[in-house]
Amino acid sequence: MRFRATILVKLLVALVVPTIALFTLFAFVAYEVSRRDLDQELGLRLQAIAASASTQIRGKYLAPLVPGAETDRGYQNAIKKLDAVSAVTGVHFFVFDRQYNSRGDTRSGVAIGTHYFRAELDRAELERVFALGAIASSVTFIGNDGELYKTGYAPVHASETEPQIDLVLGAQAPAFYFSRLADLRDRLFAWGAGLLAVSVAAAFLATLLITRNIRRLVAAAERIGSGDLREPVRVASHDEVGVLGQTMERMRQQLAERDARTQQMLAGIAHEVRNPLAGMTLFTGILRDELPERDERRDHVDKIRRELGYLERVVNDFLDYARRPKPELCDVPCDALLAEVAQLAATDGVTIDVEPCGGLAARADRVQLRRAVLNLAKNAVQAATAAGHRGHGAVRLSARRRHAEVELAVWNRGKEIPAATCERLFEPFFTTREKGTGLGLAFVREIAADHGGRIEVASAGGETTFTLVLPIPA
Ligand SMILES: Nc1ncnc2c1ncn2[C@@H]1O[C@H](COP(=O)(O)OP(=O)(O)O)[C@@H](O)[C@H]1O
Ligand SMILES: [Mg+2]
Repeated sequence: MRFRATILVKLLVALVVPTIALFTLFAFVAYEVSRRDLDQELGLRLQAIAASASTQIRGKYLAPLVPGAETDRGYQNAIKKLDAVSAVTGVHFFVFDRQYNSRGDTRSGVAIGTHYFRAELDRAELERVFALGAIASSVTFIGNDGELYKTGYAPVHASETEPQIDLVLGAQAPAFYFSRLADLRDRLFAWGAGLLAVSVAAAFLATLLITRNIRRLVAAAERIGSGDLREPVRVASHDEVGVLGQTMERMRQQLAERDARTQQMLAGIAHEVRNPLAGMTLFTGILRDELPERDERRDHVDKIRRELGYLERVVNDFLDYARRPKPELCDVPCDALLAEVAQLAATDGVTIDVEPCGGLAARADRVQLRRAVLNLAKNAVQAATAAGHRGHGAVRLSARRRHAEVELAVWNRGKEIPAATCERLFEPFFTTREKGTGLGLAFVREIAADHGGRIEVASAGGETTFTLVLPIPA
């Protein structure tokens, strides 16, 4: 249904969007804070490792080394000590001078004098290390192998007693914390997806609950709009929709009461008109008989009698329609019913065929059901006659059982009913016949509804079928 989509969209916007936006913000902040903390912690650890390793080596032996001096004993001593620390901590060390040229490196293959371009980028921090003997760390950077690295720097003093600083020791390690961050990220994603699923499900559920009641209201409004005021509006909900339902139910009751009053009044008038009509018909009959055989005034009186006949039909049809007593249900054998109707509705021109229905019985008010089927049969005969069909094979009555319903069908050959007209056929006073009352089908529809059933029409290919469907009570 159309409005479900829009309510769902609104609920999604109201529920899911803020939830996800807030969670995303939270996740982002949590992730960033963790990353900053872990990064800072790594920096501090590398600084500490560099500071403690730098006490193991003496600057005065390494500073004078020139490229190719890898066999120097002081150099080998220093590298051995650094290797030992490196083996324990998993950090690799490198020593360099103010020009960022190597004086030692625990990675094999890095010769004395190799320029450290990477360290040069940390010039600002390193100047403080050289000048003040402070410790520092680099920003996290991407190494040649694509991994993230960080370096801690500490000054290398000339010796234990000589505080002069010509060299700096770098301690470099991969930013291991990224695997922990990835863990955190995965977990945040999982939580986010869970939250999304739960809030979308909640939106769907809420939409379902709201629209279920709204759909009921729409169905009730459509029923009331089509003039069916019998069924109460039922909405078992205590929210705004429930209040709307109660209001609609009050409206239905008031409309039904007003309908009943109007109908009562009209029935009263019709009843009052019927007696004088009967009198007028009687006296025009007498008047006609009193006029001489060849008198032209007889024609006038005949015309009056015909009009009176029409008025009587309107009044009687209307009283049938407006004053339907509550149906008194009994089992009505369909064979007998259809045979009786066929006899009553047949005319000189058209014979009505009846299909045998094998002892099927409808549960209905006998008199009302006969009148309803008779109305349908008369219409069928009129339609067949108007289209020039005569004798057998123009009108057929049948009944059959389908599921828990009895279908009484009245079929006729004749000009089919245009689709636009089909919808209006059952309105009171809708007629296309010059002397029609337009109450026959309206009456049939009311009888069907009084029995909890319905009336259907199908018209195509020069054939028309009206089907009266009545439920079989369990
Ligand atoms: N079997 C039918 N074939 C074609 N038109 C029909 C048939 N039955 C009913 N109708 C149409 O429905 C209209 C309303 O029928 P009804 O309510 O019985 O009033 P009335 O018979 O007084 O016109 C008819 O005027 C006619 O146009
Ligand atoms: Mg009719």
